[in-house]
Amino acid sequence: MLVTRYLANDLFAGKTVFVTGGSSGINLGVAKNFAALGASVGICGRTQEKLDSAATELRALGATVCAVVADVRDFGALEVAFAKSRAELGPVDVLVCGAAGNFLVPAEKLSPNGFKTVIDIDLLGAFNASRAAFEQLKETHGAIIYISAGMAYMPYAFQVHVGAAKAGIDMLMRNLALEWGRYGIRTNSIVPGPIEGTEGMKRLWSPERQEEFIDAIPLRRMGTVDDIGQSAVFLASPLASYISGCVLVCDGGQNLSGSALFNIGAEQMLRAHEG
Ligand code: HXC
Repeated sequence: MLVTRYLANDLFAGKTVFVTGGSSGINLGVAKNFAALGASVGICGRTQEKLDSAATELRALGATVCAVVADVRDFGALEVAFAKSRAELGPVDVLVCGAAGNFLVPAEKLSPNGFKTVIDIDLLGAFNASRAAFEQLKETHGAIIYISAGMAYMPYAFQVHVGAAKAGIDMLMRNLALEWGRYGIRTNSIVPGPIEGTEGMKRLWSPERQEEFIDAIPLRRMGTVDDIGQSAVFLASPLASYISGCVLVCDGGQNLSGSALFNIGAEQMLRAHEG
């Protein structure tokens, strides 16, 4: 459900929101929630076709859109993207650093280049985008939102590269909150839980076991891209004007489960004793 149901649909009128990796998944969902509230939207990604399709969806919501091919690992490409976005949409008010890469792999089978690739996309990419957008954000007293993950604070099997990258992102976020607060720039992270229909879920969990997974989430449902979009809108809005350096966990309580399968097993044993 897009946020227009709950908030004035001109909340971000006259504002520019730039989303890295904004052509699909959670990031496109975030971009759409801002578009629905009147924002102009810049997006970057690696694939022209995906960007074109995302731009069409965003324009259908009324947004003026600037879609640029840029890999977040390439600082020069990001500088070009932010210059183009500025020329077409005005300076960035809200930067969402969402570009990420992921695959399941046991640590002993992960090559140094595989580890580096995810660190480069997630962590270096988040720094590159923040750095490239800094002057514009300084001008607008803007906000940065990083898309983190539960792997940042709890180890998940076969995710050593992602855990390191996302933990780094949360610390980058805190450092920038400290250093850039003086310019009126706020920085925060969102930790999405399992979000249905996303590339991340496809890579991390088999659909046949979805019910088992949902049983381990206290709210007993998968998240939606709009759940994350709404969190991003809140953090970027005047409602959060004194919030900086914060990690907002939006996961239906999933992180509370700890070892999810242990909890499912324990619940089954308790039921057996009761029954
Ligand atoms: C082991 C792998 C691998 C795999 C790639 N590598 N895939 N190693 N298992 N499945 C290794 C390669 O062997 C290579 O190392 C190195 O990683 C770089 O691989 P490339 O394919 O050349 O990289 P590149 O083309 O840049 O692609 C990046 C990518 C790819 C991350 C590997 O999967 C990608 O583009 N992903 C983007 C989309 C995505 O992942 N979205 C999901 C994000 S979800 P060697 O040593 O052979 O050179 C997410 C959410 C987390 O982040 C939390 C959810 C709850």
